[in-house]
Order: sequence, then C-alpha cells, then structure tokens
Amino acid sequence: MREAGRIVAVTLLELQDKIRPGITTAELDTVAERTAHALGAIPAFKGYHGYPASLCISLNDEVVHGIPNPTRVLKEGDVVSLDFGVIYQGFVGDAAITVGVGKISPEAEKLLKVTREALYAGIQQARAGRHLQEVSRAVQEHAERNGFAVVRQYVGHGVGRRMHEQPQVPNFVTPQRGPILRPGMTFAIEPMLNTGSEETRVRPDNWTVVTVDGGLSAHFEHTIAVTNGDPVILTLP
Ligand code: MF3
Ligand code: CO
Repeated sequence: MREAGRIVAVTLLELQDKIRPGITTAELDTVAERTAHALGAIPAFKGYHGYPASLCISLNDEVVHGIPNPTRVLKEGDVVSLDFGVIYQGFVGDAAITVGVGKISPEAEKLLKVTREALYAGIQQARAGRHLQEVSRAVQEHAERNGFAVVRQYVGHGVGRRMHEQPQVPNFVTPQRGPILRPGMTFAIEPMLNTGSEETRVRPDNWTVVTVDGGLSAHFEHTIAVTNGDPVILTLP
C-alpha cells in the first residue's frame, strides 16, 4: 500500500506541475493515466461503477467526481481539485489535492488552507485505541471554527485491496463512535469543505457533484495507516 500510495503522490505532483491557464482537464487525465502506467500501476477509478476516466477533476463549485473533458479549459483563478487512485500489486492508494490556477481569491486561498489543515487534524487523531469518531470530530471542528461547511453526502473510507472498504470515515460527528482504531488499519480521510452551504447535488452527467448554492468547494485526501505510534501517511512521494 505504501508503494501504491507513493505512485499516487508522484502522479499528483506531476499533475500539479502541469496546472496552468489553457490546459484542458482531459489533458491532465492523460498525464495521470500515463504516469501511473509508467510506474507499473493501474488507475483505480477507470471503470469503477462505470466511471469513464482515470482522474477526477472538480473545478470551483464542483465538489468531487468531475469528469475530464477536452473542452474544459483551465483559467486563471480556478480552484482545481485532483483526485487520483491506483492499484499496485493488488493494493490501492487514493489521494486528492486542491490547487489554484495562477492567482485565486483570498477566500479561495483560505478554503484550500483550512481544508488541508482539517485533513491533517484528522490524521493526527488516527491513533490506536481511539474511536474513529475522534478523526471525524477533529476534521469538523477545524472546518467549522474557520467558517466553512462540511459536506455530509460523501465520506472517507477504508482502503486495502479494494478502494472502498469498511468503515466509512465521515468528516463530521455522527451518533456512532465508530470502531476502535487498531494498528494495521488503513483508510482514506477526505474532507470536502464548502464556502457556503454544505448541500450538494449531482449534475445530469450522473457523476459531477456540485454545491447547490454555487459556493466554492475544496477536497484533500490521504490514505493513512494506524500504527503503534504516529499515523503513517501512505500517499506521500
Ligand atoms: N477518490 C474517490 C474516493 O475517494 C473515488 C472516485 S470515484 C470513481 O472515493 F468512481 F471515480 F472512482
Ligand atoms: Co477516497
């Protein structure tokens, strides 16, 4: 899983380097697919429940699951979330980052910073003996303390030989405390934060999730492992 995660992270760095006004989301999808293949991995999203691409690219008010498109051209000021996963020797890595194209608004800058921080606050709680709910609580508290809304309709998940395994990893506190964390558990924490309402809907393409009010959305994700000590982030280069 560490190797799968490394391939995902290296690919996201490669994509981040290519983000500029004028590039299309379909071109980024091609870069992701080629990079993964060159590193000996299989893109995990392509064909998953019929998803038509290797990468999810979600711009501005799009929350997650945006489909790459040759007519979709990045422009200065866009907020771009890149979500990528691979299968390497039977194991999955899954991660996401959100970046700006050129100069973005101060509100967008803050949203990206707080969403990334919320992910890391959650990761810090992924320790043996704690309930999974402590991860969710840390993410939610950091988001709401900074004035952003936590998306409820999509959550993180266990990761292993399959991309989506038990348990669900909500970014908000639910009545369930969740399982007690044990060394060796691996899961994806993936906060999606909105500047406006938390409410989302799915576009008629049946994939792209957007905010109902048109507010901006950001998404950061790591696959992590619980150990006897500090949590280990598997999706680092
Ligand atoms: N990375 C997404 C997740 O974290 C999965 C993308 S959905 C797919 O769950 F269908 F496009 F694969
Ligand atoms: Co995920």
